[in-house]
Amino acid sequence: MSENAEDKEVKAAGAATLSKDAAPGETLLKVTGLQKHFPIKKGLFQRQVGAVRAVDGLDFEVRSGETLGVVGESGCGKSTMGRLITRLLEPTAGQIEFEGKDITHLGVGGMRPMRRDVQMIFQDPYSSLNPRHTIGTIVGAPFRLQGVEPEGGIKKEVQRLLSVVGLNPEHYNRYPHEFSGGQRQRIGIARALALKPKLVVADEPVSALDVSIQAQVVNLMDDLQEELGLTYVIIAHDLSVVRHVSDRIAVMYLGKIVELADRESLYKAPMHPYTKALMSAVPIPDPRRKNAKSERILLKGDVPSPISPPSGCRFHTRCWKATEICRTTEPALLELKPGQRVACHHPENFEDQAPQDTVLLTAAKEAAELVADEVLAESAETSAAVAAELAEEDTSEESTSEESTSEEATSEASTSETSAPEAAASDESTEETGSQESTDK
Ligand SMILES: Nc1ncnc2c1ncn2[C@@H]1O[C@H](COP(=O)(O)OP(=O)(O)OP(=O)(O)O)[C@@H](O)[C@H]1O
Ligand code: SF4
Ligand SMILES: [Mg+2]
Repeated sequence: MSENAEDKEVKAAGAATLSKDAAPGETLLKVTGLQKHFPIKKGLFQRQVGAVRAVDGLDFEVRSGETLGVVGESGCGKSTMGRLITRLLEPTAGQIEFEGKDITHLGVGGMRPMRRDVQMIFQDPYSSLNPRHTIGTIVGAPFRLQGVEPEGGIKKEVQRLLSVVGLNPEHYNRYPHEFSGGQRQRIGIARALALKPKLVVADEPVSALDVSIQAQVVNLMDDLQEELGLTYVIIAHDLSVVRHVSDRIAVMYLGKIVELADRESLYKAPMHPYTKALMSAVPIPDPRRKNAKSERILLKGDVPSPISPPSGCRFHTRCWKATEICRTTEPALLELKPGQRVACHHPENFEDQAPQDTVLLTAAKEAAELVADEVLAESAETSAAVAAELAEEDTSEESTSEESTSEEATSEASTSETSAPEAAASDESTEETGSQESTDK
């Protein structure tokens, strides 16, 4: 009887703890309009002459228990974003809420309790571990910093953590240089997990490791997530790492999120041209497609400078679909399909958001040379299919002319021999009928 009562008490205490935490699927972290501009200063008086707009207006949320993958080319602001949400950096503007609490400008003292809940794993397992400290000291540091005394003492808990991440607990007194890259990253993971965090932000956790070791570390993180109910934000520069482990994926370009969708939707039907380009860079081991022609999209040039990002859509200088509106008007990140947000005037696999604007910019014509024929054909095919669908819905006079264009496009697309320049040229001819001229110089 008394045991039962005790049982109930324990359960009630457990429930109380649980109700404090976000239930699986609930928003754990919410970011609104997040910005980080690093000032550029010059001269004797260190006058500010400009700013690196590393993160330039992010809106997203992280749900409890999920893995959110964040991908994008080097310099697009992924690490800055990671450091902002773990509050290692002070944001220039915007808001960060953790479990409904505004933590945007919390000071050191205010942040202390939150430090336990949010941890970061860094990219470089060589420089992120102090070479003069034993791994026992390194993994035990969070307890000392937070003044936490684990049951059974720090040493025992650290040894338990080492075995959790697959390391020998007897190696407690060894130094980082005695471990391989993969083992060092396990040490970093053990350290991040010491205080049982709710959110772990992992900045390129495996990109410094040998490919053969990468899968092991990713699998370890995956197992730990299940065992410990962790929520992850995993940052990577390409999709090869995050594609297997992420529930949702945010694609970043020059300080902005250009597409945010669940993994399935993103793989089945990416809507942002940049996402499509990133995906084409990752070979898909699909036996059904082994005879398919290569569908690689090579993006021309480097990412423009975040000091003065291009006007309108920041991707317009490299996008094969860019038109005048892309140069002048920034597309908002909109939920075009359930669970799929995208910032593009002419999305893939969806109805055109600016169908009246058909004149390709010069940059787009040049970019098209680097886009595989299949991609251009597929693009034309989807826009034709969407246009046909719309025409079916709309029986008015106007839709008849739309339909004839879409038929043309379909016939173009179905010709398997259509080459890239031809496909681009066919676009141009459609434009000319609109008697518009490109104003891009
Ligand atoms: N402390 C800083 N001061 C000035 N500029 C910075 C600072 N940190 C980052 N930047 C700049 O901000 C931009 C975004 O950098 P960030 O490191 O966030 O990109 P990233 O996406 O993580 O790139 P990578 O894939 O190379 O790690 C870059 O142009 C970078 O040079
Ligand atoms: S089509 Fe326009 S809006 Fe869409 S990604 Fe290309 S340049 Fe940006
Ligand atoms: Mg980085």
